[in-house]
Amino acid sequence: MCGIVAVVGLPRAIRVVMDGLYSLEYRGYDSAGVAWPGRGGLNVVRAAGRVSELAALLGDRADAEVETAMGHTRWATHGVPCERNAHPHVSADGRIAVVHNGIIDNYAPIKADLEAEGVVFRSDTDTEVVANMIAREYRGDLVRAVEAVIPKLDGTFAFCIMASDQPGLLVASRRGSPLAVGVGPGFNMAASDAMPIIPHTRRVVFLEDDQVAVITSGACEIRKGGRSVDYACTEIAWSPEAAQKDGYAHYMLKEIFEQPTVLENMFRNRLRLPPSSDADPEFLFEGLNIPDDYFRGVSRIVMLAQGTAYHACMVGRNMIERTTKIPSYPEYAADFRYRDPILDPSVLVIAVTQSGETMDTLHAVRLAKEAGCKVLAVVNVVGSSIAREADGVFYLNCGPEIGVASTKAFTAMIAGLYFLALRMGQIRGSIDRGELRRRVLDLLGIGARLNGILATDGAIRRIAAKYKNASNFLFLGRGTGWPLAMEGALKLKEVSYIHAEGYDAAEMKHGPIALVDENMPVLAIALQGSRYEKLIGNIQEIKARKGKVIALASLGDKRIRDIADDVIYVRAESGIMNSICCSIPLQLLAYHIAVARGCDVDKPKNLAKSVTVE
Ligand code: F6R
Repeated sequence: MCGIVAVVGLPRAIRVVMDGLYSLEYRGYDSAGVAWPGRGGLNVVRAAGRVSELAALLGDRADAEVETAMGHTRWATHGVPCERNAHPHVSADGRIAVVHNGIIDNYAPIKADLEAEGVVFRSDTDTEVVANMIAREYRGDLVRAVEAVIPKLDGTFAFCIMASDQPGLLVASRRGSPLAVGVGPGFNMAASDAMPIIPHTRRVVFLEDDQVAVITSGACEIRKGGRSVDYACTEIAWSPEAAQKDGYAHYMLKEIFEQPTVLENMFRNRLRLPPSSDADPEFLFEGLNIPDDYFRGVSRIVMLAQGTAYHACMVGRNMIERTTKIPSYPEYAADFRYRDPILDPSVLVIAVTQSGETMDTLHAVRLAKEAGCKVLAVVNVVGSSIAREADGVFYLNCGPEIGVASTKAFTAMIAGLYFLALRMGQIRGSIDRGELRRRVLDLLGIGARLNGILATDGAIRRIAAKYKNASNFLFLGRGTGWPLAMEGALKLKEVSYIHAEGYDAAEMKHGPIALVDENMPVLAIALQGSRYEKLIGNIQEIKARKGKVIALASLGDKRIRDIADDVIYVRAESGIMNSICCSIPLQLLAYHIAVARGCDVDKPKNLAKSVTVE
C-alpha cells in the first residue's frame, strides 16, 4: 500500500517520477506528492486525491530541468487523506524530506519526545516523525543519519529520503515493505515495484530487510549494518507495453481478456507431452528447489492466502486432495499467523499471492519456516518478498496485473495449484498414468476454450444492464462452485459497491434464504455434474420466494432456461476447466455492472492492490 518512486540522474526527473506514480496508483490513490531539491531548499508539491490532481497542480513544473526527484501515492493509514497528510513529509527544519510506505508502530512515543524537544508537527502521520528523527541526526552525512535512525524504528517501512543540501543523492531503505532499485547507465532509481523502473532500465535489485541503498547518478551502493554489501541485479522480462491498456477501456477488461493467453502459456511453457501414449508428461519447473522425495513424505498441505487468492486456494484444495490424496487446508494467513497453528516439518505450506507482498501472508510464511515446514510460493510478481523467502517458487507469469480487482491472477493461481497437484500426484503415484496424460492433454487446449467463454461478453453486458440497480446480490454454488460464488460476490462488491454475498448453496436454507424476495438477484453456478440436481432444487426454492435467478449453466441445458430468469451458458468441461471457465463470466458480470453504474473499476474506492500493512 502506497507507492514510492524516486530517480537521480535522468533529465526531467519530476516527469519520470510522475509517470512512475501513475503506474503505482494501484497501490493507493487518496493523495500524492513530489519533492525535488532546488536552490532555496526542498520543493514539495502535494495534492489530495489522485496523481492527476497532483499533475494539475504541478503544471509546467513537471518538466523542470532537474535530475533528482521523488514522489508518493498514498493509501491512508495514519491521518485522513488530505494535502496536509500527503507525502513527502519534510522535517520541521526543512532539511529532510521522506516518502514512506508502511507503518511505524512506535511513532507515538518518539513523536512525544520530539515535541518535548520543541519540534512542531504539521501532519497526523507516522512518517513526519521519521523525517524529524533523521533531521535530528543529520550533520551533513545523510547515509549515517538514516543508518542511525533505522534501528530505532519498529514496524514496517520502505523509505526514500533526500536532504536539501545534497541534491544529487537519494537514500532508500526497507523493512517489510517492498522496495526495488533500478540500476541504469548514468542514473539510478528506487520504487515500490519494478513497473516505474522498466521504461528506463530492466536491471533491478530487490532490497532485503534493513538494507540501505545509496544512489547517485553514477553509483548505487547497497549497505547493511553500516557496511557495503555485494548485490546482484535481476533482469525484468516484463515489457513496459505489458502495462498499457491496449485499446481496452479498462485494465480490468484487458486482464480478463488476457486469460486465454496467460493460461495457455503457463501450460505450454511448463508441460511436455511426448507423442508416445506410454510416455509420462514432463513438468518443467524453474525455481521449485524442493527434491521429489520430500513430496512423498508430506502429511498435510496448508495453503495460505488472503482475499481472492484465498478463494483460489479453496478451489485448489479440491484438486490437490483428489490428485495427491494429501489432506489439504486453505487458511486465511491473517488468522493462521496468530493462532499458534500445529505444524511440523512434514507439513507443506503453499503461499498463494499475486503481489508476493501481502503482509499477513508473508508473516505466516515466516512462522511456517520457523516451524521447519517447507514453503512453496505461488506468486506473480518476480522478486517479491514471499517469492524470495519461500523454499521454492512457482511463478504465475501473468504479466503485471494493474486493475485493483484481481482477475487473471485468480485463474492463474487455480491453474498453478492444479499444475502442482498433478506433479505431486505423479511423484507420489497417486494418479493413474493414463489419467494424468488425459488431464495434461486437456490443459494444453485451454486457450481456445477460454476464448469461447469470452464470446459470452455481449450477453453478459445485457444481463448487467438489467441488474445494475440492484442493492444486494447472492452468489451460490456447490463443490468448487462455492469458492467461485465467493469470488464472484467479492468481485461485484469491490468494483460496483453492490453488497454481495457468496455461499455454498447447501447453506442457503441455514440462513441466507431469509433475504430472498423479488429484489434479490441470485447468481447460481449450476453446471451439469454431480451436484446439478441439488442446485436446481435451490433455484426452485429461490423462485418460489420470487427471487431473480441468473444461472451459469452448461451449454445445451434447456431445462434451466425454464426456471432461471437469465442464463449464461458455458461449455461444461472437466473439474479445473469448469472452475476457470466459470470465473470469467463472473468477472465480466462484475465489470459490466460496475461500468453501467459509472464506477471507476480499475481503482475502486478504499482499496489498494497490495496490502502491505495489517
Ligand atoms: C481482490 C483482491 C484481493 C487480493 C488480496 C491478496 O480482487 O485482489 O482480495 O487477492 O489482497 O493479494 P495478493 O494476491 O497480492 O496476496
